[in-house]
Amino acid sequence: MLARIEHAAQAISELGKPEVAVVLGSGLSDVLPLEGVRSLSFGEVPGFPVPTVTGHAGRVEVGKVGDKEVLVQRGRIHYYEGYDLAEVVIPVRAYALLGVKTLVITNASGGISSEFHPGDLVLITDHINMLGGNPLRGPNLERLGPRFPDMTAAYDPVLRARAKEVAARLGIELREGVYLATMGPSYETPAEIRAFQRLGADLVGMSTVPEVIAARHAGLRVLGISCVTNYAAGLAGEPLSHEEVIETTRRKAAELSKLLTALVPQL
Ligand code: HPA
Repeated sequence: MLARIEHAAQAISELGKPEVAVVLGSGLSDVLPLEGVRSLSFGEVPGFPVPTVTGHAGRVEVGKVGDKEVLVQRGRIHYYEGYDLAEVVIPVRAYALLGVKTLVITNASGGISSEFHPGDLVLITDHINMLGGNPLRGPNLERLGPRFPDMTAAYDPVLRARAKEVAARLGIELREGVYLATMGPSYETPAEIRAFQRLGADLVGMSTVPEVIAARHAGLRVLGISCVTNYAAGLAGEPLSHEEVIETTRRKAAELSKLLTALVPQL
């Protein structure tokens, strides 16, 4: 596995040497445009798994946001696509080998908290792993990090404070909440959502947690921002659809774009 990650890092290093990486998820892949872009599709990066879902582009770009060199990953791999969790995190681990120090990760989620509504942007404060697996399972890659990484402050408090400052300055409302990851691809049942509510989850989605575990293992600082695209199952009495998820992210893209364009150069 290390060889796969190293090959990927080697290929991406031809694009540049960024210290910040931004992962843009479902329907959000265009929210951070870059200047002077050099890019590779996932298929062109040796060792990378290739996304299979429509609406998830699958490109790695390096370019500038203001004066800052940034890597942007447009689209991502989900566990439900059939890859192992260890494969799902190859991109993030390759960025760590490349010298990336800060990971900004975005996603679409269902709102569990009664305070959240479709269209809300939420700073992820912590997560609950209900994927039924861990990407670090198996021999530890000592080159990347320790066997038993701490997850106490997985979502960096300093970066969160900075994100809130920038959002406040721009007049963008940024809520806070705990993200719970399920394997998917089926959406949750109303009974599952009631259970997750009792466990302390505010948001539910099918991504992010593997990447954050791998990022923390490798010592990266993480900032997570979720776009609430729908009320979680059973809360609004309506069926859930992927089209609704994509439609809501499109509606919020401009706001998230403004936030990331101002925030990323300050990370
Ligand atoms: N559940 C799981 N994943 C999601 C949801 C949801 O309600 N909305 C967007 N991604």
